[in-house]
Amino acid sequence: MLPLYPYGQRRTLIRELIPGQVWSFEQLQGVFYVAVPIRMTVLRVQDGLMLYAPVAPTGEVRDGLRALEALYGPVCTIVLPTASGLEHKLPVPAMARAFPAATVWVTPGQWSFPWRLPSSFLGFPLGRTKVLFDQGLPHAAELHWELLGPLDLGLGSFVEAACVHRASGCLLVTDALVGIGQTPPSLFDGDPRPLLFHARERGNEPLLDTPERRQLGWQRLVLFASYLRPASLEVPGWLEVVADAFAPGLRKSDAYFGLYPFRWQPNWLEEFRALVPDGGVRIQVAPILERLVFPRSRAALLEWIRRLAAAQEVRWLVPAHYEAPVGCSPELLKALADGLEQRPWAPNQGSWAYLASIDERLVRLKLVPGGSAGNDASLKP
Ligand SMILES: [Fe+2]
Repeated sequence: MLPLYPYGQRRTLIRELIPGQVWSFEQLQGVFYVAVPIRMTVLRVQDGLMLYAPVAPTGEVRDGLRALEALYGPVCTIVLPTASGLEHKLPVPAMARAFPAATVWVTPGQWSFPWRLPSSFLGFPLGRTKVLFDQGLPHAAELHWELLGPLDLGLGSFVEAACVHRASGCLLVTDALVGIGQTPPSLFDGDPRPLLFHARERGNEPLLDTPERRQLGWQRLVLFASYLRPASLEVPGWLEVVADAFAPGLRKSDAYFGLYPFRWQPNWLEEFRALVPDGGVRIQVAPILERLVFPRSRAALLEWIRRLAAAQEVRWLVPAHYEAPVGCSPELLKALADGLEQRPWAPNQGSWAYLASIDERLVRLKLVPGGSAGNDASLKP
């Protein structure tokens, strides 16, 4: 069992992104204190409310949704916009039970691992679950839908359904695009422990809370979430790790009992700045997606971004992780696609080395289809 953060007590930050139109429900989710915010987006549609990428329907979430329902009408549609993102898939059955009158829409190619199970076994309600594109599209007059994939990942497919909400100009995506901020999202204001955990140099340091340490912890957390093992990180021997763990005051669960199996090299901040340059929030493909999901699917990804750029209404990007809303436009999406086409794709060096080693191992074991970077070997017919 993975030590999932934050166990039972899950806070939700509810924000209105576009007045009277779009709302964000954010929760922390992660493994071993690499806790990244996960977002459900709520859209106002003519028939009521549509939930895109549900989060766990805690009491706080249900109360927030009931308050919106009182103003704008019932939750009529629940959308699971990804076939592979487990963190978005798991909350769907519970959210569907919380709103028994809503229609549930899922992307084509839903799959389970290690066993392949029919949809009803994945917890999607029988009789009111529909497949996007195969069985139509919800609120098609108000939303412009574009599908990325299915891309063959070997063990399953990657599929993501984006939509443009014409009324607000919001482009909703799940994992394929993100905008990473310089500073920690306000969701961490209530519980900065994941940030403070990573702000240390050794496991025998206590968790001190200052604005600088929150910032530093955020930068490192982003590097973990982006590269799994950033280039400026050393993993010390377990003997050293366990010795540090015997420092007084650390034998409590908050600090993972003092276990901190990381050493950051002095240049680590440069690695963060290369990923998140100073200035406004930049829209990008998350490195972990580029190197492990899209390494041989650049053409399909670019084509999807360019199809999205054809929607003239786009003003904002609202992804399921990191910042939202991020300023966006058709021109910006076109420039993003051109930039991704011109630079080296899914590299093997520097920050990318660990992700590359995972991909290479999977290809060698024939668990994922091979082919050279940038080719569309993975595109399913
Ligand atoms: Fe995700």
